[in-house]
Amino acid sequence: MPSLFDHITLRGLTVRNRIWLAPMCQYAVDACDGVPTDWHLVHLGARATGGFGLVFTEASAVLAEGRISPQDVGIWNDAQAEAWARIVGFLHDRGAAAGVQLAHAGRKASIEAPWHGGAPVPPADGGWTAVAPSAAAFDDLVVPHALDAAGIREVVDGFAAAAVRADAAGFDTVEVHGAHGYLVHQFLSPLSNLRDDSYGGSFENRTRLLREIVDAVRAVWPEHKPVSVRLSATDWVEGGWTLEETCEVSRLLAGQGVDLVDVSSGGLDPRQQIEVGPGYQVPFARAVREKAGVTTAAVGLITDPAQAQRVLDDGAADVVLLARAALREPGWPWRAAHELGVPADEAPYPPNYARGAWRG
Ligand SMILES: Cc1cc2nc3c(=O)[nH]c(=O)nc-3n(C[C@H](O)[C@H](O)[C@H](O)COP(=O)(O)O)c2cc1C
Repeated sequence: MPSLFDHITLRGLTVRNRIWLAPMCQYAVDACDGVPTDWHLVHLGARATGGFGLVFTEASAVLAEGRISPQDVGIWNDAQAEAWARIVGFLHDRGAAAGVQLAHAGRKASIEAPWHGGAPVPPADGGWTAVAPSAAAFDDLVVPHALDAAGIREVVDGFAAAAVRADAAGFDTVEVHGAHGYLVHQFLSPLSNLRDDSYGGSFENRTRLLREIVDAVRAVWPEHKPVSVRLSATDWVEGGWTLEETCEVSRLLAGQGVDLVDVSSGGLDPRQQIEVGPGYQVPFARAVREKAGVTTAAVGLITDPAQAQRVLDDGAADVVLLARAALREPGWPWRAAHELGVPADEAPYPPNYARGAWRG
């Protein structure tokens, strides 16, 4: 049996295979109230039916002002948690585990969906003033407000309250979004964090917000459920956040009870020069796995079943996450099972399909 289809256990959670759905924003909340809709049920539900072991939601805001766009989902109130509970129930019924990515967009908040151009949404049109470690804008977006001590506390408390709601909604795991130039990453990188207080300057200070969030989440998140963190391993810009720092903070986070580091890259600075190619971020996952001794997920142009299997065989990661390939093909794990020779009765086909399609 190819190890892509081995189960994996993190604390009390056993996931049926190592092919997981990466978080993907959908900009599908037309009511702008952060409540997930039937779109999310169908989008996520199709991938759970398609055999993905664990299905991550898109970046889900822990505070209203932490949304990227007004159409983003959230998990800062009970109505949102109740809507998530229905979706989580469906994912579980399909045999998938359910993870929610807890997020705050920081200075990349209050913008239009990409297909509308991604321009800032002014308060008069339902937008809001973005916050950040420092009053420094991303690219040509609006200059954000620098968070004061009370604002930072509110963010940390927001992540913890979201974790409580995630547990009530039935999620099996939470992922703290510390990547792609959003708020946590803005604190990590010296390119966006220009503070001179205890949250800026040294490695210890720049990582303080992330470490406080993880402690606050761990304090309320059940002991038997795993926590993951997504990090950008590099800013791909001179003078930015580095792979060495990623490995070091991963080691610290593992000591705080983080069970998996999901290793991505970039998103902080428009000057980034990313060397894109098949599996281009896999070496970062391997470095984190080896240097921090933590379970890792690899992501980024993993598109082919044999290639995905090699990531595991090479010891670069413990699970693979797919994003765009999963959009093209919600049943990617079925094809992987077929191509890698997994017997039909051990592949993640729903019984409904197995009867008709595979037994004639
Ligand atoms: C439509 C779309 C939305 C995305 N939204 C998120 C998100 O909400 N959170 C996140 O961490 N990454 C997000 N990403 C990045 C993916 O999770 C993934 O890291 C990236 O697409 C590389 O993987 P791939 O080559 O398999 O697509 C998004 C990607 C796409 C294509």
